[in-house]
Amino acid sequence: MTSAIPQTGRDRPGTPPARWRRTLLAAAAAAFATVQAAQAQAVELSADEPILPVPMGLGADPRKAELGRRLFSDTRLSGDNGVACATCHVLPRGGADGLAVSPGLPGHPGITNTPTIFNVALSARLNWDARNRTLEQQVLSVIESPNTMGAQWPDVLRRLSEDTGITAAFGEIYPEGMTRDTVANAIAEYERTLITPNAPFDRYLRGDADAISAEAKAGYRIFKDYGCVSCHQGVNVGGNMVQVFGIFGTPLAARAGADTPGAAQETGISDTQPVFRVPSLRNVAQTDPYFHDGSAETLQDAISVMAFYQLGREISDRESAEIEAFLGSLSGEYRGVPLGD
Ligand code: HEC
Ligand code: HEC
Repeated sequence: MTSAIPQTGRDRPGTPPARWRRTLLAAAAAAFATVQAAQAQAVELSADEPILPVPMGLGADPRKAELGRRLFSDTRLSGDNGVACATCHVLPRGGADGLAVSPGLPGHPGITNTPTIFNVALSARLNWDARNRTLEQQVLSVIESPNTMGAQWPDVLRRLSEDTGITAAFGEIYPEGMTRDTVANAIAEYERTLITPNAPFDRYLRGDADAISAEAKAGYRIFKDYGCVSCHQGVNVGGNMVQVFGIFGTPLAARAGADTPGAAQETGISDTQPVFRVPSLRNVAQTDPYFHDGSAETLQDAISVMAFYQLGREISDRESAEIEAFLGSLSGEYRGVPLGD
């Protein structure tokens, strides 16, 4: 199994083509405003805590989101490959696929674990190597990524334009009609509805002291005291920074990654150690296996690797169980239904 950070095809870090830049800048500003608004709303509620509740909504435009919802399951976006976004980001499977590493496409195997699609709108950095900053930017590149959607934009637009229903829907909502930017925006708008508020831990943050167990409260204390929270914090309990994986020694999972440091080359954090976007821990109990290469099968495994390699601590079984109880309390609700039900 390879755990190199993807550097394939067009889905790689770097300067986007000029024609995308204006859209990307606008999208970046919009995404930043979304995250800012969410954080501002949450800050009022729990000023002293390093973790903020997921807001109940992000104000996505319902008509655009509905169009995006349809496109999310539309295999025409992947050419002849027969996959859609929803093939790999399976909502009833925690928004991921449950596999160690994404199967990818025929001839172009996947390289990394599939992250959850839930709450992506609340992450400031996207992808394991943090190469994307906005949801729109991610859609624009993933369509042409050879091991994900494997299509070409002109072909996608041609196929979709043969569907009069979909072109009419775009025409009604977007003055410019269906373009690659409006397709990307519609999907991003749908993604902004894929949030999971009302986790027991969020209810606890909002003042319901009984919303989580004594064990979970002990776990949260350890999470803060030992410093997990220095990397996993904010509204998404992660998703907002890039860090070395393997500060106190190199975990097995990071060894292969060391050959291709990926984001490390871009961030200035380290040129010699593997660097990854710190993942969100929202709904983490639903998204096994863990790490960019899926090498940790259980949450317990992931917790001990983190404690040992990120914080230089060997933690007891009891502490690990308490942290696990805390992480379990981060599972929220999608459209009012608790994840995992
Ligand atoms: C073949 C499986 C597959 C398909 C199809 C797929 N994805 Fe993904 N997705 C992945 C994998 C694997 C990653 C992680 C890639 C990486 O960062 O190395 C990912 C990452 C993402 C991320 C970043 C999540 C985060 O927290 O960083 C978003 C957003 C996303 N995909 C949206 C989409 C959308 C939208 C589509 C359809 C246009 C799509 N994906 C199609 C497998 C897939
Ligand atoms: C120095 C920053 C840092 C600290 C401190 C840290 N983490 Fe992490 N965490 C990361 C990074 C980076 C990853 C992604 C590693 C990878 O997959 O390659 C990660 C991944 C994880 C994952 C897997 C998530 C997934 O979806 O795959 C869990 C669970 C986790 N951390 C929990 C913890 C816990 C619990 C602690 C405290 C004991 C902790 N982390 C401390 C940076 C950190």
